[in-house]
Amino acid sequence: MTKVLVLYYSSYGHIEQMADAVAEGARAGGAEVDIRRVAETAPQAVIEAAHFKTDTAHEVISGPDALADYDAIIVGAPTRFGRMPSQMASFWDTTGGLWFGGKLIGKVGGAFTSTASQHGGQETTLFSIITNLMHHGMTIVGLDYGFQGMTGVKEVVGGTPYGASTIADGDGSRQPHAEELAGARYQGKRIAETAAKLKA
Ligand SMILES: Cc1cc2nc3c(=O)[nH]c(=O)nc-3n(C[C@H](O)[C@H](O)[C@H](O)COP(=O)(O)O)c2cc1C
Repeated sequence: MTKVLVLYYSSYGHIEQMADAVAEGARAGGAEVDIRRVAETAPQAVIEAAHFKTDTAHEVISGPDALADYDAIIVGAPTRFGRMPSQMASFWDTTGGLWFGGKLIGKVGGAFTSTASQHGGQETTLFSIITNLMHHGMTIVGLDYGFQGMTGVKEVVGGTPYGASTIADGDGSRQPHAEELAGARYQGKRIAETAAKLKA
């Protein structure tokens, strides 16, 4: 069976919800799926002052070597000034040994993200994740236009060809829209199916 890892970081739960939807899609694509988050590295004072959500549903990934066990790795993180958060970058900074051994070459990869504002840096954040995956030799699958939900401008809605996305609003009050969750499911399914084909 194809094995898919959904690896994420989330301060307020938007990416956590998107991770669940990506995983749902990957399961629908026939994969066995694990959802893991990366460790929180922000100081406790910041976590409290910024009211981070700490009751997360998923386990922290055991370490970089765990990545080698999967056929596909889908990485989700909210933006920080147009790029991935240090929590996620710190994790990828521990994967030098895997890179040296070529352990992720040929695996399928993808990214999903969240921003506060509509133009707050979704695409640059996705690329800040995808860059790492490409250096590892992974084959990137985005959110293709077979997913119709990201076309049209009648309503503010996330979704980019580079990966699924949601918009949280400045106070985090906006929750992932049904269409954004559908995009996350679509991308998860597409990645699971692609990984199965490449494995065959
Ligand atoms: C330090 C910091 C920088 C941020 N920079 C941006 C930004 O450049 N653009 C933006 O739209 N949102 C920005 N945000 C908002 C987050 O992206 C938003 O809280 C996040 O997408 C919500 O996802 P989560 O609930 O999974 O944490 C920033 C948040 C923090 C804490």
